[in-house]
Amino acid sequence: MVLPRKLPQSPSSPSAPTSQMMSSKTSSHTNYGMGSRVPYPLSAARDALKAGLVPEPYRPVSFTAPVVLANAWAMGKPPAQSWADPEDPNEIPDQITSGRKRVMPYGNSLTNCPFERDSSNLPINPMGKTGITGRGELGLWGPNPAADPIIFRSNKDKTLSVLLVQRADGSKQWAFPGGMVDPTDSTISATAARECREETGLTLENLAKYSLGEIYRGYVDDARNTDNAWMETNAFAWLLPFDVPSNKIKIFDASTQSDETLSIMWVPVTDDLLQDGKLFASHGAILRAAIQKLSG
Ligand code: BGC
Repeated sequence: MVLPRKLPQSPSSPSAPTSQMMSSKTSSHTNYGMGSRVPYPLSAARDALKAGLVPEPYRPVSFTAPVVLANAWAMGKPPAQSWADPEDPNEIPDQITSGRKRVMPYGNSLTNCPFERDSSNLPINPMGKTGITGRGELGLWGPNPAADPIIFRSNKDKTLSVLLVQRADGSKQWAFPGGMVDPTDSTISATAARECREETGLTLENLAKYSLGEIYRGYVDDARNTDNAWMETNAFAWLLPFDVPSNKIKIFDASTQSDETLSIMWVPVTDDLLQDGKLFASHGAILRAAIQKLSG
């Protein structure tokens, strides 16, 4: 059994750059530019960070994608066109009192990871700088919560497969069939089940007895993160035995495409798959943590 080499970083111990020296190395973000739908603008600060340097002076580029601004909450706008926070975070209390649900109270994180706010009330990314301020492609100021189902299947020959989707975003990378928490989801695990059903056709409600529980809850090293908006996820795993009845694990055809996915597959868990950079965002590290739980 392959054991994890490096677990996802814990939000309680952020490794944000501390030194202002140009030669200092950073390690908190590595996935720049892999997985956004909207191209992010050029930023010399981002390039320096990508190269492992701490830019001094720090001159980030401000960017909030037009689609986020077009869907920012404003009094009287229909809910379908106001899934994003208002551009001025000071209007969030009005958003809440007007009845527009937010996924979580402003200032809180899914993972209880504390973060500061600047003098304009903008959340500050607890894992350090990204070279981009604003919200980029993310709808919420501060933490943007997601949920991920990790579905393992044991094969008859004792090898292991995991259910993955190929994302239809700029990364085209393979990933868990997860997604963003919707304000109408009753719990985070309900988000994982809903996303799994929508993206793969698999109904997790029938498979509760194979649940391995929670694997990860924390910050995600996601290409879309900015200095003021970032991804967090809660990942849960299941282990299906090889003789699980096939009518319980029906999934869509591999070639089924949607807005979110290009393909769906049971992918063999190999050493190669577990290497950093093979899967979307932090999914490789989260997969290693799940394997550790399996073998533990
Ligand atoms: C994805 C999740 C992922 C999260 C953080 C969401 O868009 O659907 O699978 O964990 O982003 O990267």
